[in-house]
Amino acid sequence: MDETAQPLTAAKRQAGYHAANLVEDGMVVGLGTGSTVYFMIERLSSRLKGEKLSVLGIPTSYQTAIRAREYGIPLTTLDDHPVIDIAIDGADQVDFGLRMIKGRGGAHTREKCVAAAASRFIVVIDEQKLVPRLGGVVPVEIIPFGVRPAMNQLRGLGCLPAIREGGKKDGPVISDNGNFIIDCKFPEIENPVELEMAIAKIPGIVESGLFTGFSGIATVIAAGEKKCKILSLTDILP
Ligand code: A5P
Repeated sequence: MDETAQPLTAAKRQAGYHAANLVEDGMVVGLGTGSTVYFMIERLSSRLKGEKLSVLGIPTSYQTAIRAREYGIPLTTLDDHPVIDIAIDGADQVDFGLRMIKGRGGAHTREKCVAAAASRFIVVIDEQKLVPRLGGVVPVEIIPFGVRPAMNQLRGLGCLPAIREGGKKDGPVISDNGNFIIDCKFPEIENPVELEMAIAKIPGIVESGLFTGFSGIATVIAAGEKKCKILSLTDILP
């Protein structure tokens, strides 16, 4: 086992458990995707059983739907519940303006739909993901038909784009929505809001992993091995 992974796992558990403790009886809960959300599902499941809470979850990926069912969390859909009390999700990077990059797992399109329907957006990360300025890989979901011209346009925005390939499948990763993912490697991103808008204008692109419009409803739980920092915009700005 990778010894260095243990503090990271402990931090993810801290953040996930803390977020699950914010869920109240009767809530509709957006269930994000990834390894930190996994711990949130674990804790939420034990609260459902121990405290006899009644909640409904809206999963953002097949992975989360499978896990939530295994853990006995009842599921619903955005069609049935277009307004969500609280969405809980991970992130790949978060800056001090609570803008973020998501989509390492290719689930960012559904994650954005769910966050946009939520009154509160709780983001669970290990504290190493807090950065002064966003940069690095921004995942972009695209319909396969438009991939080549879109890559040219993405290059024009200053990144190195690459179609994501599968680890246990030859060829492109196919998202839960039946699309390709282009990983766009940017240097430091000077204006994430403008970049998110510029990417959204490219024909065929479904969603990018830039989440710049959620700072107002976001609370970030950034965990170390033992303690959590809680960040919301009102804590940061005067
Ligand atoms: C899924 O596509 C992503 O947006 C994840 O939510 C994000 O990558 C965080 O995942 P981890 O909690 O596994 O780091």
